[in-house]
Amino acid sequence: MRTLIRNADCVLPDGTRRTDVLIQDQTILDVAASRATAADEIVNASGLTLMPGVIDDQVHFREPGYTHKEDLHTGSLACAKGGVTTFLEMPNTNPPTISRAALAEKLALAANKCVVNYGFYIGATSGNVDELRRVDRTPGIKIFIGSSTGDLLVDEQEALERIFAETTLPICAHCEDEATIRANMALLDGGREPADHSRIRDHRAAAIATERAVNLARRHQHRFHVLHVSTADELPIFSDHQRLITAEACPHHLLFNIEDYGRLGTLVQMNPSIKTAVDNAALWRGLLSGQIQVIATDHAPHTLEEKQQPYPRSPSGLPAVENSLALMLNAVHEGRCSLEQVVRWMCDAPARVWDIVDKGRIAAGYHADLVLVDLRKRHTIRNKDQVTRSGWSPWDGVTLTGKPIRTWVMGRTVYVNGKFATEVRGQEARFDHARGGYWATEGAS
Ligand code: DOR
Repeated sequence: MRTLIRNADCVLPDGTRRTDVLIQDQTILDVAASRATAADEIVNASGLTLMPGVIDDQVHFREPGYTHKEDLHTGSLACAKGGVTTFLEMPNTNPPTISRAALAEKLALAANKCVVNYGFYIGATSGNVDELRRVDRTPGIKIFIGSSTGDLLVDEQEALERIFAETTLPICAHCEDEATIRANMALLDGGREPADHSRIRDHRAAAIATERAVNLARRHQHRFHVLHVSTADELPIFSDHQRLITAEACPHHLLFNIEDYGRLGTLVQMNPSIKTAVDNAALWRGLLSGQIQVIATDHAPHTLEEKQQPYPRSPSGLPAVENSLALMLNAVHEGRCSLEQVVRWMCDAPARVWDIVDKGRIAAGYHADLVLVDLRKRHTIRNKDQVTRSGWSPWDGVTLTGKPIRTWVMGRTVYVNGKFATEVRGQEARFDHARGGYWATEGAS
């Protein structure tokens, strides 16, 4: 099967150019194909922009165990609609993904259910270093240095030292300091209102844990990715990256701050908590200066009913995967960043951080994971239109300019203009960790 996408403005590794892209089966065959090329399908993309599919390296899709919130099928549909062609999923399911057997089960479920490509982290515990040493078919190891949804906390120094010393896979971590969280909780009597969430999970909690993790990574010379940076305070901690450390920001930490609790209450209750307008600005600066390399969502769906319980009974987390690209296209429209930067943060950088084979770029030989976007399209996010099983968005009612309108996964159209090809199945992403990650591939074409 050959598809020719004609006349799109294509975001290529060396810049954006109007050209034709030829797909053969699962692969991009040619960029700048000749007009006379024979194809089974010709897509006229005049006036539209073609970019690599988004790789979201931090989602929670809740299967197995919490499928009333989301499952691998509904989460992957939300991805397809949002222009996300590959997701990497976190291990805090039930059972948690903390063994090779649990990982194999998730991969088998995903092969049956996912309309986009997938990969799954393995979770660290204080006692599973042997599993972590033997596992493959994974982007890396996730450590919760600070509790969040689930019970995958690893807080003891000795256990952390062993994980960094005795494993070779890249590590990423949720960095919020447990002792600080508990002390703040005691001071605030557990918390009474949603805004207390940011007083409990405060700037110090984030900075102390990030410092601790970065220190481990440096001492053990271990590749390390700081998930969901939420404060200005963390940036200097990892800016001396020593070609080992990368970091990421989430749309909710860029776009929401404590002023939003009044309007949105527990809907913006997240771990790490949202912080201040000063932190929003610092995270944007971190992205623009290259201190933060990746944007990912931390898509963490809970039902509205669960979220509407009074704080602190309300769970932390919000769904975002189907709107993250549109939110960033809107940021391009507002002049906060360029389209090429969005592609670097959401497509190319995550592929390089996690050594994902043949993804993240529009180039001959790469997988045909592509998104066609209309940069001028104005649209309003509505809860009723959300395909995540949780059925809501914290951006309900927000009007954006810029929208993904068609998504290809491994050469097949999975989403176009509101319609899904639900029979399409994504593939397991492959990780070639010998590549050495983001910094090892800096400057490589
Ligand atoms: O708010 C959060 N919710 N942060 C996390 O790190 C986990 C997530 C969840 O799984 O609900």
